[in-house]
Amino acid sequence: MTPFMSANLRDIAETVAPRSGWDFSRMKAERDPGPWDYNDVVRRFLRPTSQVLDIGTGGGERFLAMADAFAFGLGLDLDPEMIRAAVNNRPSELSGRMSFAVMAAQPLAVRSGAFDLILNRHAPFAVTEVMRVLRPGGSFITQQIGCHNMQNIFEAFGWASSGAFWEKRRRQQRYETNAVELAAEAFRHAGGTVVTLGTYDVGYYVHDLASLLFWLQSVPLPEPFTIDRHEPAVRSLIERYQTPRGIASNEHRDLLIVQRSKGPEGNHHTFDLLADGAQDSRGARYAGRRVSHQ
Ligand SMILES: C[S@@+](CC[C@H](N)C(=O)[O-])C[C@H]1O[C@@H](n2cnc3c(N)ncnc32)[C@H](O)[C@@H]1O
Repeated sequence: MTPFMSANLRDIAETVAPRSGWDFSRMKAERDPGPWDYNDVVRRFLRPTSQVLDIGTGGGERFLAMADAFAFGLGLDLDPEMIRAAVNNRPSELSGRMSFAVMAAQPLAVRSGAFDLILNRHAPFAVTEVMRVLRPGGSFITQQIGCHNMQNIFEAFGWASSGAFWEKRRRQQRYETNAVELAAEAFRHAGGTVVTLGTYDVGYYVHDLASLLFWLQSVPLPEPFTIDRHEPAVRSLIERYQTPRGIASNEHRDLLIVQRSKGPEGNHHTFDLLADGAQDSRGARYAGRRVSHQ
């Protein structure tokens, strides 16, 4: 019997704490080398003067970690819990230049042309809104989860694929597709220049069962994970995919970088980023809706 199989899954499941914000740092896993790292890509676009929007920021964990490299940041998320976590995660010395607000990716209640850089990692976006809110010459970077991500896990659970799940969810939410090739085409139609369109699909190894169970209970999946219901699927995964490096799966990611062409007005900077009529105080009325901009 291997160390993985001898484990009492239920005992381990009981020790797995819920995710806080969008923090996956407790997961013990490794991936084979890929052609890019999201944080490194973003850092190449950041300037000390940049005003940056992060759509679907979660608990702002990644966004806050990059705040040393730009002037002002606004992180948006549809989920008030996430914005609460982001505000809690924000060190007090950043409160003057890192703001967070509950807001959907569409429509964006922010001024047209206000941002030098728009970020979007593993979250929805709307092409027309991104193009409107980007200043002429500004860039948009999105990394999306590829359609075959963790494919063997989806199959072990009897689900088709990550891609099929996310496409269905986007349609229900009336968002455009997350498929980067189609989004790239839509950006070109809207006057954007596609700077980068890339994909990687590399080996990914989850080192222990607590990390696997944490992932299963923390990411959106076709049905909520419970050990009662899914123990046989977890056991079959372990049996089939355990390796000396851990449970083997794959990480599939897509990357799209678009630049809005420079208009006749050229580059401009403003710290007045909110839509007309908005106030930057907590709970201010803001583009016709009540939002918490903190
Ligand atoms: C997978 S998490 C990614 C969080 C963060 N970008 C990161 O990479 O760590 C996706 C986030 O998008 C948010 N989200 C989902 N639908 C959204 C929408 N329509 N508008 C804005 N945010 C949304 C979720 O609440 C969640 O916090």
